Amino acid sequence: MSQSIAEARVYDRFFPPLEAASVSLWSNGLNELARTVLPDAMDYLSRFRAAVNKWESHPDHGAVHSYNVFQGMMHLAKLDGRFYPARSGFCRAAAVLHDLFQFLPMEDPVSRQHPQRMAQAVRYFGAKFNLSTQTVSELARAIGHHDDSLFSKKPPANLPYESRLLAHADRLYGAGLSESAEELVRTALLRNRTGGFQPQGWHFIRDFTLEERRGWRYGDRWYSDNISAVRGDLQGNFQTAAAQAIAEARKAVFPDVAASVYGADYAASRQVLADWERAVESGQPVAVRLVGKNPDRNAGEPILREAPAVSPSEIVRYAFSCPLPLPVIPGKPAPTGWFIQISTAGAPRLLDPSVARFGSADDFLQAINQALF
Ligand SMILES: [Fe+2]
Ligand SMILES: [Fe+2]
Repeated sequence: MSQSIAEARVYDRFFPPLEAASVSLWSNGLNELARTVLPDAMDYLSRFRAAVNKWESHPDHGAVHSYNVFQGMMHLAKLDGRFYPARSGFCRAAAVLHDLFQFLPMEDPVSRQHPQRMAQAVRYFGAKFNLSTQTVSELARAIGHHDDSLFSKKPPANLPYESRLLAHADRLYGAGLSESAEELVRTALLRNRTGGFQPQGWHFIRDFTLEERRGWRYGDRWYSDNISAVRGDLQGNFQTAAAQAIAEARKAVFPDVAASVYGADYAASRQVLADWERAVESGQPVAVRLVGKNPDRNAGEPILREAPAVSPSEIVRYAFSCPLPLPVIPGKPAPTGWFIQISTAGAPRLLDPSVARFGSADDFLQAINQALF
């Protein structure tokens, strides 16, 4: 059977550079999807369009993420020797839709239920699809189970091959496409780091047991830590041969890549601490405040708190364990995420106490490895 031009293009040029043209290809595809999928549901359609607009530019789970996931699915299938052009449309729809429910207006923005809710939506609007009942059902199942391993759930053993491709490409290629294991790890680490190191960010690494870490779920952030989010991306229940091999290769290179990415973060944080200690010792005026997540969801500004008048290393210990004024989930460690803002002569600098508390880069990197594997 001959391929269509679009499919041949995808097949021949694995991992083409992501250009604006590629993204607009996707948005045209979405317009087409909205037009054919929901012809009668105009009210829903307008809300759907608003969600799609948000989705298009979202840095973590937007159009670029879906593009990566789709290309990743095609790549994994090719490596498995199971590329079926006839199924690429199914894969494309699954990649576009899988995280979209996070953006719909009726939904909590950090829903842990987004896979199941989107599966329901696909089933609900299934009658409007120009697809067979079986395809709608498979699409809903694939989407409904795409984050099972992230949420520490065991995916059903009998999921169709394309469903597994979606879940695996989401874990392996969601942050970026590459055939190099080093590059995949580096991209995943950098993507996860961006949300953490900011005034309303969350601690990089807290002292959790493995059990507590397994309880991490999407959106927990201040209850959890940044390295648990990394764990979600790096761990997975991989059920296809190619995905298993890539996951193993990624794991093997992890310590070296972590030493380069996180080693630099550690050195930078120790430098801030050293400058701060030197300023205190030489009697320079230093203003120190704790900066944390504002419990008011609509407030753009972080909350501030005076630091206790003790030595820098004691403030680091205090800020690391001090709870944030956020609701406590019964049976879970209290949410923490204070950063230390240090103002000397120059611009204020932020220090993450969960990083600065380690006495050496080796201790820090060892703690990261223990938390992940
Ligand atoms: Fe997801
Ligand atoms: Fe995703």
